[in-house]
Amino acid sequence: MKIFIDSADLDEIRKYMSWGICDGVTTNPTICLKCGIEGGTEGIKQRTLEIADLIYPRPVSVEVTSDIISEVVAQGKEYATWAENIAVKVTITDRYGESMLPAIYRLVTDGVQVNVTAMMTTSQAILAAKCMESAGATKERPNFISIFAGRIADEHGVEQAAKVLRQTREWLDLFDYSSEIIVGSIRRPENVNSYAALGAHILTIPPDVLAKSLSAARTRETVTQFLTDAEKALAACREMELAQVAK
Ligand code: E4P
Repeated sequence: MKIFIDSADLDEIRKYMSWGICDGVTTNPTICLKCGIEGGTEGIKQRTLEIADLIYPRPVSVEVTSDIISEVVAQGKEYATWAENIAVKVTITDRYGESMLPAIYRLVTDGVQVNVTAMMTTSQAILAAKCMESAGATKERPNFISIFAGRIADEHGVEQAAKVLRQTREWLDLFDYSSEIIVGSIRRPENVNSYAALGAHILTIPPDVLAKSLSAARTRETVTQFLTDAEKALAACREMELAQVAK
């Protein structure tokens, strides 16, 4: 299973790259805003290029800023020229619930790696996978299906998020489809364990959740005990050495 970092913060991404746990990065307009990216599309382009370079050849997902099909296609094609490792994020529907599959189909047909995002139901995920497979998707450069588990759970409970994930994975496996599931909207460390077990190919995790995932009170206590005892043992050694020299 892969871990993506759900952030546009270069320092955070650099940190998790150095830990060896970053297989990719996902961003969205909200994340870009939160990370203080200014300058509209040009600002997003500059930050995306920095991320793409930092994590190459791992993919960075960057989201289109329109829900009008012709604009999404044009923007998606433009984003894909920025770097080799760009995945273009497109929402499954527009703000009125109308299908964005025509744009997704066009982009995948043109060889753009797509991350279909903001999905809350199994049927959305299945249709996105089917669309991308028909457009010529392959396992060599998989497209992504982003299921927002936290937002599903907010509204319908964790069991529903689990059901959507399990059903989507079963369906992808049954038909040997090439798309990979990204579980997004992860809010707590315990989500990481449970969603991983339910069939996610990838978890995209915000830096604050990753930081919390390592921390455990008993671990800190144990490390403190080991270090204190190591200091005592070393002090005892030093005393023995001094006694030897004095003889
Ligand atoms: C995933 O790709 C999204 O960027 C993100 O996980 C959404 O998370 P949220 O529901 O916590 O805002």
